Amino acid sequence: MEAVLAACRAALVRPGPVIALTGAGVSAESGIPTFRGKEGYWTIGARDYHPQELATQAAFRAMPWEVWAWYLYRRSVCRRAQPNAGHHALARLALELPDRFALVTQNVDGLHRRAGSPDAQTFPIHGDISLMRCAADCVLDRWLIPDAVPDLAKGDAVAAPVQALLVCPRCGGMARPHVLWFDESYDEPRFHLDTVRRLARGAALVVIAGTSAQTTLPWHVVQLAASAGATLVDVNLEDNPFGDLAAGSGGVIRGPAADALTAIAAALI
Ligand code: APR
Repeated sequence: MEAVLAACRAALVRPGPVIALTGAGVSAESGIPTFRGKEGYWTIGARDYHPQELATQAAFRAMPWEVWAWYLYRRSVCRRAQPNAGHHALARLALELPDRFALVTQNVDGLHRRAGSPDAQTFPIHGDISLMRCAADCVLDRWLIPDAVPDLAKGDAVAAPVQALLVCPRCGGMARPHVLWFDESYDEPRFHLDTVRRLARGAALVVIAGTSAQTTLPWHVVQLAASAGATLVDVNLEDNPFGDLAAGSGGVIRGPAADALTAIAAALI
């Protein structure tokens, strides 16, 4: 741990953004399942439904209310959860390093925002489960899912009065969850594609936490930063492909993200 903290401090001397790249492992200690862990959404789902198929535009076109039911169930899980020390540590870093800290998160749970991470420094590259947008993209605006939309338990259906609330406030057509689906691509207006790549190209330090390195834009961020000479640090319970890269750079911390991020924030502030 000490060697990694020293590497983080040394990286701070160089100019350029300090990026935290987070995944589901950072919210695991808040009680939100990861995706590919033993109890993960993609793992558990495999037995009684196929969420990875549900998490597609094709599924939404074919069975919109099953897809909505799945996301309203996950929204309920996120609303019951509280940010943990890891989320709070990154929020503190943003406030202490207002001109150079950026949080790139794959998490749609909103816990970083609820911990106080400022929107101007927070880039949710897979969307936000508390938001909806027009399914026909009549405009690119996002809206909070109305409070009147209740929490759903796993397997609950979306009742007709609730369906009537999930409409685009602009055109009256159907609304959809504001999340990136497996058969969709990253872009700038909705998922900050160009912004996070620009930040990575000049990065001094990238702290990677709680991700299994299975999605493309995070790889772009890490590779662009590495080729710009950034120090890479990986925080995870387990070895993973990003850990292999970080091992040759700032090093790895194999342990819970909440403790590790708290120590890293303290070292950088
Ligand atoms: N502390 C640190 N790391 C943890 C913890 C913890 N308490 N708990 C789990 N982890 C690690 C696991 O070892 C694993 O490497 O977090 C990682 C979680 O990996 P995934 O479940 O694959 O989640 P993530 O990497 O965020 O998935 C990326 O894939 O399916 C898409 O859109 C989805 O945003 C998601 C993306």
